[in-house]
Amino acid sequence: MAVSSGGNIETVESLVEKAAGSELASIGELAGKIMRTIRNPASSAGELKDLIEVDPPLCAKVLSRANSAFYGFKREISSIQDAIVFIGYNAVNELALSLKVGKLFESDRSIGFYSRKALWAHSLAVAVCSKLIYRREYGERGDNIYSTALLHDLGVIVEEQFAHDSFKATIDACVKDSQCFIETERKQRGFGHPELGEAMARQWSLPEWMSQAIGLHHDPARALGEFAVPAKTIHAADISCRLNGFGWEPEPREAELAEWRGCLASLGIKEKALEIIGEEVKAEMKRLQEAGDLYL
Ligand SMILES: [Fe+2]
Ligand SMILES: [Fe+2]
Repeated sequence: MAVSSGGNIETVESLVEKAAGSELASIGELAGKIMRTIRNPASSAGELKDLIEVDPPLCAKVLSRANSAFYGFKREISSIQDAIVFIGYNAVNELALSLKVGKLFESDRSIGFYSRKALWAHSLAVAVCSKLIYRREYGERGDNIYSTALLHDLGVIVEEQFAHDSFKATIDACVKDSQCFIETERKQRGFGHPELGEAMARQWSLPEWMSQAIGLHHDPARALGEFAVPAKTIHAADISCRLNGFGWEPEPREAELAEWRGCLASLGIKEKALEIIGEEVKAEMKRLQEAGDLYL
């Protein structure tokens, strides 16, 4: 289904095409490369170093992070190779992607209840929360869940940038009808930000489970097989972060909360356990804010 905005017909395909020619494409490129180096058993810190070194602003940020008081190292770290050794391969991956994605949200654009800054803080909080769920609840490292969760609402920024009029109309209708955002956008244009994000992830050749997890993050009951745990975890983290003050849209409605509780039960996660993880997310967000380089 499609909607007409300013005389143009908006479809998932047309919006993905518009985004492909924008600065968003550079995120896809970096995300794709990072995922490939992680998936490739022969991948090394050297490949990650090569990725970062060709991007001077990213290089500077990673070095400044490695030298920040948070890591408390005694000697100065002046090479990306050393930064990777000190901070850790996965942490550098996450930092590189966060810095690149966060750049997109740097300008504070607001439309009704939406603001880029709030969407960015939400994306980061959901990424931190999803990773903590993997570690605390499943006893897994959760490689790549952070990156997937960081990109879960990517479709929203595509709508804001390339379907501006219909995006604004959705926000207005959402307030007027007291409906949640996802329901309103699907009703208005026939598809929502998860489908759009999924199509973007596929265009960037990200692994299929990542595309599916992004596409199903508001429909956990439809996530089956190998896609179930990542999609449900992002859903669990999404609502939890919204309840903890890291939301960009109105408070979850009763129907969303009922779906969330069902999702937690199917994952075997107790609400109390998620409350404790929520406190850790708040502490990590405070730390990230104080570090001052993640555009929060
Ligand atoms: Fe979403
Ligand atoms: Fe979200």
